[in-house]
Amino acid sequence: MAKPLSVLFVSSEVIPFAKTGGLADVSAALPQVVRELGHDIRIIMPKFAAVSDRKFKIHDIKRLTDMPIKLGDRTLLGSVKSSFLTNIKTKVQVYFLSNDELYCRSDLYVDPKTKKAWPDNDERFIFFCRGVIRTMLLLGWKPDIIHLNDWQTGLIAALLKTEYADEPLFKNTKIVFTVHNAAYQGVFPGSSFEKTGLPEKAFKPEGLEFHGDINLMKAGLMYADQITTVSPTYAKEIRSDEEYGFGLEGVFKKKARKTVGLLNGMDTTIWNPEIDKMIPQTYSDTSLEDKQVNKKALCEHFGLPYDPAVPVLGIVSRLADQKGFDLIKEQLVELMKLNIQLVVLGSGEKKYEDLFTKAAKKYKKKLGAHIGFDEELAHLIEAGSDMFLMPSKYEPCGLNQMYSLRYGTLPIVRATGGLADSVEDLDAKPKAGTGFVFDDYKGKQMLGAVKRAVKAFGDEKTWQAAMKRAMKKDNSWDASAKKYIELYKKLLKKK
Ligand code: ADP
Ligand code: GLC
Repeated sequence: MAKPLSVLFVSSEVIPFAKTGGLADVSAALPQVVRELGHDIRIIMPKFAAVSDRKFKIHDIKRLTDMPIKLGDRTLLGSVKSSFLTNIKTKVQVYFLSNDELYCRSDLYVDPKTKKAWPDNDERFIFFCRGVIRTMLLLGWKPDIIHLNDWQTGLIAALLKTEYADEPLFKNTKIVFTVHNAAYQGVFPGSSFEKTGLPEKAFKPEGLEFHGDINLMKAGLMYADQITTVSPTYAKEIRSDEEYGFGLEGVFKKKARKTVGLLNGMDTTIWNPEIDKMIPQTYSDTSLEDKQVNKKALCEHFGLPYDPAVPVLGIVSRLADQKGFDLIKEQLVELMKLNIQLVVLGSGEKKYEDLFTKAAKKYKKKLGAHIGFDEELAHLIEAGSDMFLMPSKYEPCGLNQMYSLRYGTLPIVRATGGLADSVEDLDAKPKAGTGFVFDDYKGKQMLGAVKRAVKAFGDEKTWQAAMKRAMKKDNSWDASAKKYIELYKKLLKKK
């Protein structure tokens, strides 16, 4: 075998340590598969309050204790701790950069009291990025690839290509920057530039300057050797003129040749109805009747009457505009006229939390809502629902539609990003379809897709055939992880 690669994977969230969305799932699953394929990949993330020493058997690394790290004209101390991500096949080392004042808070990015971003997020992630570089220097570990994810890590690219450009340790290191969501860019006032400690020349349109502000995602895009995003369709969308780039479309256009869209996979050791320990009854494509046990439990959980003939639509989501909730809001009355039940698990924007809380009171027999974050209930919804509703305005990849396919819960999605790349419409392709897809971001179109799904549900033979097809679809990480490894290798060959 060729020489194994060494890769540092940098992410602000990784399951089971800390999670707000799909980034955390990806940041655990992809490194584990890369490790299984024989490479030395290690992860680094901030040590948030949720990362409990006891629960995760975290230990100190003596020589990485109280490292002085520059933050503008101040110097703060950071310590690195370590633990492992383990599954049946592998062990991946995880480093945690700790500084209690910066990271030990009740939420990762947002103050739950104000529902606004922590006011010092610039400092929290500038410190993190500098801390990551310091850690490698002190470890003397020379990664072939530094794989950065989203804006929280973007500054690392800028620092390595400026301040550390002559550092021998990183002489042959290549930087990959993955965009998981272009809507979240880490934009801070121009006055924050000084805190980065970057040379003056970086504060310009060819650097991280963005309309007088600094933009940490742009830092990643401008200085990385390779850009990736999480689905082929999203890679095209972000460089179109249709607002998917949230102001960065010009940069995405400019960097088109350096950008590739690789569809995320899903962790089939966690999301697999055949072995899922969080659901009342496991099942497979040869025992579809067992799924009913979960449907019954799901209805009971939400206090809804159980009726095998009435399809249950599930939603598990951040309650954000991205996910298409304004369409659901607009069409809720019409949806509730259909012979369906709707169960919702989510948290986020207050307007949507209120919408579902009120609707659950109004439509007691038809709609159940749980506002909050609940891993176990997410599994029950995937297993117990007949359909999964995900009418996103945009969706870089989306994982829940893949989980739904695996659980035989046919997704109803809008044709955008990874949704377009992973779900095929049953009416358009009766022999290959795995769900229901609509094109335009319009309430009526979504309603039309739900009606089509309800109609198809009435035809048991067709429905079960589609369920089986969906469940058999291979969305595991194997294929995508190999593509990342190929990309790492190709990059290393470049001068
Ligand atoms: P995004 O990252 O944009 O939120 P994804 O579909 O990629 O969307 O990933 C969302 C992940 O977060 C999935 O694993 C999903 O099950 C999980 N999730 C979202 N909201 C909740 C919630 N309220 N409770 C439990 N899990 C949730
Ligand atoms: C982001 C996107 C989501 C994607 C996830 C993991 O949170 O919103 O579509 O699946 O990242 O890449």
